[in-house]
Amino acid sequence: MPFLSFLSIFLFGLLSSSQLVITQELSDQETLIAIREEFKISAWSVNTSDHCTWPGVSCSSNSSNNSMVESLDLSNHALQGNNITLISQLKSLNLIELEFLDLSFNNFGGSIPVELSKLENLRALNLSNNFLMGVIPDELDQGFKNLQDLQLFTNRLNGSIPLWVGNLTNLRVFTAYENDLTGFIPDKLGSLTELKLLNLHSNQLEGSIPESIFAMEKLESLVLTQNRLTGYIPRSIGKCKSLSSIRIGNNNLIGGIPKEIGNISSLTYFEANNNNLSGEIVMEFSKCPNLTLLNLASNGFSGTVPFEFGLLSNLQELIVSGNILFGEIPTSILKGKNLSKLDLSNNRFNGTIPQSICNTSRLQFLLLSHNAIRGQIPHEIGNCTKLLELQLDGNYLTGNIPPEIGKLDKLVSLDVSNNQLSGNIPVALKGMLSLIEVDFSNNRFNGPIPSFIPFQKSPNSSFLRNKGLCGEPLSVSCGVFSNSGGNSYHHKVSYRVVLAVIGSGLAVFASVTVVVLLFMMRERQEKAAAKDAGDKEDISDSPVILAGNVFVENLSQAVDFEAVAKATMKESNKLSVGTFSIIYKADMPSGMVLSVRKLRSMDKTVLNHRSKMIREVEKLSKLCHENLMRPIGFVLFEDIVLLLHHYFPNGTLSRFLHDDSTKKQDQWPSRLAIAVGVAEGLAFLHSVAIIHLDISSGNVVLDSDFKPLVGEVEISKLLDPSRGTASISAVAGSFGYIPPEYAYTMQVTAPGNVYSYGVVLLEILTSQLPVDEAFGEGIDLVKWVHTAPMRGETPEQILDARLSTVSFAWRKEMLAALKIALLCTDSTPAKRPKMKTVVEMLREITQT
Ligand SMILES: *[C@@H]1O[C@H](CO)[C@@H](O)[C@H](O)[C@H]1NC(C)=O
Ligand SMILES: *[C@@H]1O[C@H](CO)[C@@H](O)[C@H](O)[C@H]1NC(C)=O
Ligand SMILES: *[C@@H]1O[C@H](CO)[C@@H](O)[C@H](O)[C@H]1NC(C)=O
Ligand SMILES: *[C@@H]1O[C@H](CO)[C@@H](O)[C@H](O)[C@H]1NC(C)=O
Ligand SMILES: *[C@@H]1O[C@H](CO)[C@@H](O)[C@H](O)[C@H]1NC(C)=O
Ligand SMILES: *[C@@H]1O[C@H](CO)[C@@H](O)[C@H](O)[C@H]1NC(C)=O
Ligand SMILES: *[C@@H]1O[C@H](CO)[C@@H](O)[C@H](O)[C@H]1NC(C)=O
Ligand SMILES: *[C@@H]1O[C@H](CO)[C@@H](O)[C@H](O)[C@H]1NC(C)=O
Ligand SMILES: *[C@@H]1O[C@H](CO)[C@@H](O)[C@H](O)[C@H]1NC(C)=O
Ligand SMILES: *[C@@H]1O[C@H](CO)[C@@H](O)[C@H](O)[C@H]1NC(C)=O
Ligand SMILES: *[C@@H]1O[C@H](CO)[C@@H](O)[C@H](O)[C@H]1NC(C)=O
Ligand SMILES: *[C@@H]1O[C@H](CO)[C@@H](O)[C@H](O)[C@H]1NC(C)=O
Repeated sequence: MPFLSFLSIFLFGLLSSSQLVITQELSDQETLIAIREEFKISAWSVNTSDHCTWPGVSCSSNSSNNSMVESLDLSNHALQGNNITLISQLKSLNLIELEFLDLSFNNFGGSIPVELSKLENLRALNLSNNFLMGVIPDELDQGFKNLQDLQLFTNRLNGSIPLWVGNLTNLRVFTAYENDLTGFIPDKLGSLTELKLLNLHSNQLEGSIPESIFAMEKLESLVLTQNRLTGYIPRSIGKCKSLSSIRIGNNNLIGGIPKEIGNISSLTYFEANNNNLSGEIVMEFSKCPNLTLLNLASNGFSGTVPFEFGLLSNLQELIVSGNILFGEIPTSILKGKNLSKLDLSNNRFNGTIPQSICNTSRLQFLLLSHNAIRGQIPHEIGNCTKLLELQLDGNYLTGNIPPEIGKLDKLVSLDVSNNQLSGNIPVALKGMLSLIEVDFSNNRFNGPIPSFIPFQKSPNSSFLRNKGLCGEPLSVSCGVFSNSGGNSYHHKVSYRVVLAVIGSGLAVFASVTVVVLLFMMRERQEKAAAKDAGDKEDISDSPVILAGNVFVENLSQAVDFEAVAKATMKESNKLSVGTFSIIYKADMPSGMVLSVRKLRSMDKTVLNHRSKMIREVEKLSKLCHENLMRPIGFVLFEDIVLLLHHYFPNGTLSRFLHDDSTKKQDQWPSRLAIAVGVAEGLAFLHSVAIIHLDISSGNVVLDSDFKPLVGEVEISKLLDPSRGTASISAVAGSFGYIPPEYAYTMQVTAPGNVYSYGVVLLEILTSQLPVDEAFGEGIDLVKWVHTAPMRGETPEQILDARLSTVSFAWRKEMLAALKIALLCTDSTPAKRPKMKTVVEMLREITQT
């Protein structure tokens, strides 16, 4: 496979922003020529003498010496060879002044060459995401006196962490996660007084966490998750005043949490789940005012949740499941305005559910399963209007289901099984419009199961072992109450499937709001529900427009901001619902038709930085590529952001593929052209350093010629998590399109985009939905396709036979495209091709 040998190399110097500094006998040009020969860079034309015109080379704009190379970007040059020892030959290239060497995200194999130590002035070395093997060589300690950043993550390095790392007194960043490192964490690391980030997760490190580590006064983030660490959490932890993130879950640590934890006033995340920790949960956590996430799940903690936790006003997630805690549900914590997840499941809590359950908090997950909770479900549960998941199963709850639960219109999952609840299932539960999964089994319910599609679509096991339930999906008829199910409920997405797909990664890092965002897909626009009623009355009132603009000169007359705003108030104008926005059709009085995206107000930073947002949208409107959907304007009214686009009656790619009424145009060549177009749009985005947040067939629009336009680009720019404009809920996307690694890296990446694109390509090839119950439990489209050989199925059985059986030529092309889709959806991000390469590979299909 030729594309596996593609390398991308970034050679930058740090000196003044990005400079490659070469001051020895060789001229810059001679050096570049040597690099060209070394890596066989065909794009650097032998004929052109001015090396400053070579792709990826940019020279100083300082006119007094305009031949000095300022930066060198060798990424995506289809370079030959995948052997990092080649790099060692760079030593002869006089890069003695090189300060910044980034060889990450390539396919380099072999071991780390000791010659790298010749690069004595190196300040940053990044070898991450390659296939490097063997030990980290001891010889490297010769050079590297000035090293500040050393990144070695996601390789196949083994052996132990060399002691010389502890001698790099300027080191600020050290990462070696996702390798096979063994042995102890060297005590010597404690002398790295400048270190801010130490990330060694997912190795096989043993021994205890050295006390000395916490002598590093500047350490901000310590990640040791998923190793084999033993022993106690050292009391010295309290010395490390600047620590904000401590992740030590999935190890074999024992003992208690030292009270000194309260000395770390900047603590924001503390994850120590899946260890063998014990003792009481110390109240000293309450001295950390910024604590946002506390995850102590699956340990041996006993006692109660300290009352003082009520002081933690920033706490968003408290996860203490799988311990031996008891007592009342901590009401003090429920006062926290920011609490979104309370997971007390699998403990021995033996109080009642308090009436104050949602007086102030914005709970989204209330997980109380498998405890000894008594009493009734309070009517006040209806105040938990943000709730997405309510798990009360396996307790001693009695009484009726309060009809107020029907007010929880965002609820996705409701489990009250294995309790002693009685009475009817209230008809008011039909208000739970987002519901996907319910379980009422093993209680004392009787009477008819309300005729509500999510109920009738549930397995009958969700209603079994009750006193006297009847109606669908049970086979017990209610006689006169008999209700017939099924109208237009099309929910093919199984909640279980979805959770299984994303769940595996979450076990590694119980991340703050990844899941929340995944559920946002179902979330309605804030206030929309509350307003719906009101809107009907005052639809004639003029909305107060705060700001608006049309960037395209000749359209500004045709767009009426008030008409735009009003159009989004009518349910009948709704075209589709995406992860980040709801799309409406808006007819202008001028006759022009617009597509209007109403942003979900989940990220307030967008609104808080309104002028910045307007600038970004305006900039994006100038982003010119024929496969991108550009905004033509925006409207702000109240706290609502509307983005204006041209309206394309052909709808989305998703509709084109999955809605049978659109099949007229559906031929393989047009599908391939769409696949190429989408890939080109994304490759362009990557070339201008924009990572898309939500690639899916629903976010690709087809114009009147069925040319694809990638949409939702604005969101990627407005909520770019790497720029810190988004909240901690950094990772997003649509079900079935989310790359497996997002669940634990919490980073949106270009390889992640390639994965999502791969899913779209599979959709194009198979006509299957990305997630479908028909694949089986826990299996999505990607898994279904990747496991076809194991099931003894040929690729032909995967492809849409309506197209692949039309001609030999089509079949051959589809098979070639399938290969590309498989590469794109590889579970290892580093193995996925770059978007630009995908475009080239797809283009080759049509040419051969
Ligand atoms: C560059 O030189 C090669 C021969 O060395 C020649 O075949 C090619 O046409 C030249 N290209 C340009 C753009 O002059
Ligand atoms: C341009 O380069 C010269 C010599 O390398 C240096 O003295 C001068 O300060 C530079 N000017 C700017 C604007 O960088
Ligand atoms: C310009 O760069 C060359 C090497 O590329 C160097 O020999 C020369 O001294 C530089 N001139 C100035 C004015 O810096
Ligand atoms: C890398 O290249 C060197 C010299 O070119 C060769 O000796 C070595 O076997 C290669 N290693 C691998 C892993 O290909
Ligand atoms: C590699 O590491 C350096 C130093 O930490 C960092 O600046 C750079 O962004 C990294 N490269 C990539 C592609 O992440
Ligand atoms: C490290 O890996 C290499 C290559 O896979 C193997 O030969 C070597 O024995 C391993 N060393 C250790 C210490 O595990
Ligand atoms: C670390 O530095 C000390 C003193 O400079 C030196 O004696 C020792 O050999 C170095 N250790 C390693 C592993 O390089
Ligand atoms: C550190 O924590 C301990 C235990 O809670 C406490 O006794 C001590 O006063 C704290 N030290 C500082 C400087 O806050
Ligand atoms: C808490 O976080 C805020 C905002 O990041 C910061 O300004 C403040 O210093 C932090 N408080 C402590 C005690 O670290
Ligand atoms: C957990 O720690 C206790 C002592 O605190 C020990 O007896 C027990 O064997 C440990 N369990 C595991 C699974 O390591
Ligand atoms: C809850 O359990 C604890 C410990 O077993 C017990 O002391 C307490 O009385 C129980 N509380 C209630 C209300 O049952
Ligand atoms: C909470 O629920 C109760 C009972 O349903 C209701 O009377 C009360 O008004 C609600 N409070 C809030 C703040 O919504």
